[in-house]
Amino acid sequence: MAPSSKLWSGAGAGGSLAPAVEAFMSSIAVDSRLLEVDLLGSIAHAAMLGDCGILDRSTAGALDGGLRALLAEARAGTLHVDPAAEDVHSYVENELTARLGDAGRALHAGRSRNDQVALDLRLWLRAANRSLRAAILDSLEAIATLSRDNLATIMPGYTHLQRAQPVTLAHHLLAWAAALERDHGRLSDADARANECPLGAGALAGTSLPIDREATALALGFARPSRNSMDTVGDRDAAVEFAAACATVAMHLSRFGEELCLWAGPEYAFIELDGSISTGSSMMPQKRNPDPAELVRGKAGRSFGNLVNLLTMQKGLPLAYDRDLQEDKEAVFDSFDTALGSLVAFAALVRGIRPRVERMREAASGGFAWATDAAEILVGRGLPFRTAYGAAKALVEACRAQGLETVEGLDAAALAAVHPAFAEIGAAALAARFEPEALVAARDLVGGPAPARCAVEIDRILDLVARERGAGSDRARRGV
Ligand code: ARG
Repeated sequence: MAPSSKLWSGAGAGGSLAPAVEAFMSSIAVDSRLLEVDLLGSIAHAAMLGDCGILDRSTAGALDGGLRALLAEARAGTLHVDPAAEDVHSYVENELTARLGDAGRALHAGRSRNDQVALDLRLWLRAANRSLRAAILDSLEAIATLSRDNLATIMPGYTHLQRAQPVTLAHHLLAWAAALERDHGRLSDADARANECPLGAGALAGTSLPIDREATALALGFARPSRNSMDTVGDRDAAVEFAAACATVAMHLSRFGEELCLWAGPEYAFIELDGSISTGSSMMPQKRNPDPAELVRGKAGRSFGNLVNLLTMQKGLPLAYDRDLQEDKEAVFDSFDTALGSLVAFAALVRGIRPRVERMREAASGGFAWATDAAEILVGRGLPFRTAYGAAKALVEACRAQGLETVEGLDAAALAAVHPAFAEIGAAALAARFEPEALVAARDLVGGPAPARCAVEIDRILDLVARERGAGSDRARRGV
C-alpha cells in the first residue's frame, strides 16, 4: 500500500489537518471513478515531459511503464484504491512513487491537480456522453420498430388531456423519437464544446516549464488546448451542459413514462405491458402495475436536482479554482447513471408494449373529431376559414340536436340548413370522409400522421441510427 501523504504537505503554514476536516474534504469515495481517465491523462503528460526534455528519457520511460501497469490493473479490477487518499490524483501519485521511487515524484512537473481534475472530468464526460448517445439510439430503434408495426393503428390525439383529433400510434411514438433525437443532438453539441484540453493550465497561470500543450491535446484526442488558463481551472460549463442534457432526457422520459402509465391503466386500456416490464402487487393478487414506467417518470427529480446543484455550486464563485468545484463530480456521475438507467429501461418498455388496437380505434371514433375537417372541406371550396369554422360548428350542433355521433343520420334538409356544400356532398360521403382512417390519411403533410409520411420518417430514423452507430464504432477504432 502506498503512503497516503498529502501532495501539498510541507507547504504554507504547516501543522496537520484536523482528522474531521480531512474526512470532510476527502473525495476519494466519489472520484476514484476517474481512475482510468486520470491514468490516461498522466500517460500523455509524462510522454510530453519526456519529449520536451523536461524529464530525461529513462524517467519518462519509467513513468510510462508504471502508469500503464496501473492502468492494466485498474482495468482488470485488481488495483485497490487506498480509501485514505485525499483524492484519486493523490492516490495515483503516491502509489506510483511507492512503486517507482523518484521517477514517481517527477510526474507532476508543469501540472496542478487543478488542470488535472479539469482534464479528468472532460475525458470522463466524453465517454459518458457517448454511452448516453448509444443508449438514445437503442431507444430510437425500439420506437421506430414499434411504429413500423403500427402505421395504421388509429388512436386519439389529445390536447388538454381531452380527445382532439385522431392520429396513429406510429405518429404518437414518432413524437417521442423527435424529442430523443434532439437529446442526441444536445449531447453532441455539448461534447463538441467540451473538446478542448485543460492540461497545461496548471494551478491557474500555466507553467514556466517549456511544455507542449498542443502535443497533450492531440495525444488525448482533443481538438486543441483550452484558451485561457484561469478559465480552464475554474470552468465547469461542460458539467452543466452535460447535466442539462441529462435533465432534458429525464424530463422527456418522464413524460413518456406517464403516458405509458395512463395507457396501461383500465381507464385508457390502450396497451398491455408484458410481464418483463410490469410488476405484481404484494397484497392484491389481481394487479399488474407499471412500476418501471413510474420509476422512469420519478427519476427525473434527481436529474433536475443535479443540474440545480451544479449551477448553484458555481453561482458567484470567483476565479480561478475553488474547492467548491470538487462537488461537480457527484452530480455528473449521478446524472449519467440516472439518464443511462432510465434510457435502458425505457427501451425495454417500448419493446414490451402490446397495443390494444381495437380499444384505441374505438376511443378515436367519437367526440366529433372530424369537426376541423368539416371546416377544411369548406375552405377547400373557397370559404374563409372563420366562416367555415362556424358552419362546421353548426354541423356538430345539428348532430348533437338529433343525438347523433356521426353525420350519417342527418337528412339532406338538415345538411342544407347548415351549408349547401354539405348537402351537395351528401351524408354518406361526408361520413366516409370523417372515418378516423380517412381523417388521418388526409393529413398527408410533412410531420403529419398519414401512414406514408410516418413510414418515411421511420426510414429516416433507422438510417440515422445506423449512421450514428457506424460513426461511433469508427471513433472507438481510432480511440478518440
Ligand atoms: N479533489 C479536487 C477536486 O476534485 C482536486 C483538485 C484539488 N485542488 C486544490 N487546489 N485543492 O476538485
